Amino acid sequence: MQVARRLEQIGAYLFADLDRKQAELAARGVDVINLGVGDPDLPTPPHIIDALMEGATDARSHRYPPYSGTQEFKAAAARWYQRRFGVTLDPEKEVLALIGSKEGLAHLPWAILNPGEVALIPDPGYPVYRSSTILAEGIPHPVPLLRDRGFLPDLGTIPADVARKAKILFLNYPNNPTGATATPEFFQEAVQFARTYNLILAHDNPYSEIAYDGYRAPSILEIPGAKEVAIEFHSLSKTYCMTGWRVGFVVGNAAAVSALAKMKTNVDSGVFRAVQKAGIAALDGPQQFLPERLRLYQARRDRTIRTLRSLGWQAADLRATFYIWLPVPDGTSGAKFASTVLDRTGVVITPGAGYGSQGEGYVRISLTIADDRLDEALRRLVGAFGRAPRDTVEGSRSAPPAR
Ligand SMILES: Cc1ncc(COP(=O)(O)O)c(C=O)c1O
Repeated sequence: MQVARRLEQIGAYLFADLDRKQAELAARGVDVINLGVGDPDLPTPPHIIDALMEGATDARSHRYPPYSGTQEFKAAAARWYQRRFGVTLDPEKEVLALIGSKEGLAHLPWAILNPGEVALIPDPGYPVYRSSTILAEGIPHPVPLLRDRGFLPDLGTIPADVARKAKILFLNYPNNPTGATATPEFFQEAVQFARTYNLILAHDNPYSEIAYDGYRAPSILEIPGAKEVAIEFHSLSKTYCMTGWRVGFVVGNAAAVSALAKMKTNVDSGVFRAVQKAGIAALDGPQQFLPERLRLYQARRDRTIRTLRSLGWQAADLRATFYIWLPVPDGTSGAKFASTVLDRTGVVITPGAGYGSQGEGYVRISLTIADDRLDEALRRLVGAFGRAPRDTVEGSRSAPPAR
């Protein structure tokens, strides 16, 4: 069968080789530890699960939900934005429920781009910005995120003729995969850029609550006038450990929200009402579990960075997200290094080139794995790649186990 050209253009699955190797090793009985995915290992808090169960027995949940989200869910999202960022939103015009933020990001180019029009995408970046642009027959124009600029794009280097053809600028801070955070000055510059070129600034903000050392990540909508040009994607996945539930929302510029809502009415039929009920419980409910969980991620971050540095690897400080963006220490490619690590330790890490060409020379390590498995992975890295002081990895009193 001949598939559509637009699907072919997306290319082969970038992690295919690593996946194949992982499967081979597992088949040979190797205990593979996956530090590749950003999927919180901690359970959804119980009060959210209770709300789902209550919602599931409500007969209204058994029928189609409203396309754009229930009034109650949209109002809860607006309340959360007001409390968290001091941003006022009209729940009916400036909030739209999504089946996870990925779904909204994937449909945005369909709503905004004509074939041949440009979306500016961060490189490295979450792969959906590029693939959804291609599927909508737009042209993704990569904007490099470089270490010496703190992984913030230099918008001034985008050629004016490209910027004039662009209708979307995707940004994402705190950033996957680099872990970088944005300054308010950069957000101001980005909003100004969007105004100058009359494009939609789509800020993807699923990691706003995954922050350490007192850092508070901002919303792009805190910038005065941002709503004239910007929308912000938000997710319950990471904050509330709800990746499997598929619920998020987009807020901001009413025309862009309405265009995406219209697009979606032709594709899906909304988020299960009981899941929206659970979402309301998450957004309006007690938030005390979050600092506890952040302390756990922070402890994992500290152990991991300390261990990597003890190996002579250049792990940078990290104040948001659960991703360590590590320059490849042995001068090979990210894919080669990830493959060496997998062969020698059974530990899966992600080659940076999977996030764009500027990701070459890096690998991403995720901290969303149970403590004992993370510590086991760190012990194996120490065993295979160097000698660490005995107390570098908490709890590592024994020699690294044979694979
Ligand atoms: C930057 C970024 N945006 C969006 C998503 C999608 O999140 P969800 O669809 O679960 O809301 C992810 C998931 O890893 C992500 O890393």
